[in-house]
Amino acid sequence: MGLIRWLGHAAFQITTNEGRHIYIDPWIKGNPACPVQREDLEEADLVLVTHDHFDHLGDAVSLLKAGKARAAGQPELLGLLEDKGIPSEKLMGMNTGGTVEVAGIAVTMTQAFHSAGRGWPIGFILTLPGGPVIYHAGDTGLFGDLKLLGELYNIDVALLPIGGLYTMDPLQAAMAVKLLSPRVVMPMHYRTFPALVQGAGEFARLVREKAPGVEVVVLEPGGRWEF
Ligand code: NI
Ligand code: MN
Repeated sequence: MGLIRWLGHAAFQITTNEGRHIYIDPWIKGNPACPVQREDLEEADLVLVTHDHFDHLGDAVSLLKAGKARAAGQPELLGLLEDKGIPSEKLMGMNTGGTVEVAGIAVTMTQAFHSAGRGWPIGFILTLPGGPVIYHAGDTGLFGDLKLLGELYNIDVALLPIGGLYTMDPLQAAMAVKLLSPRVVMPMHYRTFPALVQGAGEFARLVREKAPGVEVVVLEPGGRWEF
């Protein structure tokens, strides 16, 4: 059985049916919303980082140093990882529109509208063997081409920021859900800091209004959704 586990903020662990562990934006140490310790994490097979802000880069270096894990990402972000001591054999360069396959998992890079120190912010669509298709939007504002992503990829689960200020707020995120038309949406990137939206209630209400066919799954940090 596979699962998606929310580690708080934009950090997720995805465990495939085959037992592979994928970490996206693994901010563990110093993440006030993360319920687990770095030491408690299972060894990573794949590490994905949407951009180099501290709340996304997080413990990526430590996860990559610990074992066999590889990273797929933009060349500029991978350059940053290399500067921090990750050997280039572990790094798979790609860019927006590209897809790499790791252990049967197709990782597609999508655009995102935000900022970054090195490179450009992006999102990921993961197509797991036998499903599901999971979209992690990264940090982004609303953009109309989400509709194209929804048409091209049969997205089962969309992980969307709703916290406002640095990303989409609940109103924009609900419109993003309508455009993407996933089976399930899980809100992220809220409540972590006082300046962000503190709950998912308004988002859930707006999704029921704008995209009534989509199931809103609100996890607690540490919570799991099995597939
Ligand atoms: Ni950011
Ligand atoms: Mn962020």
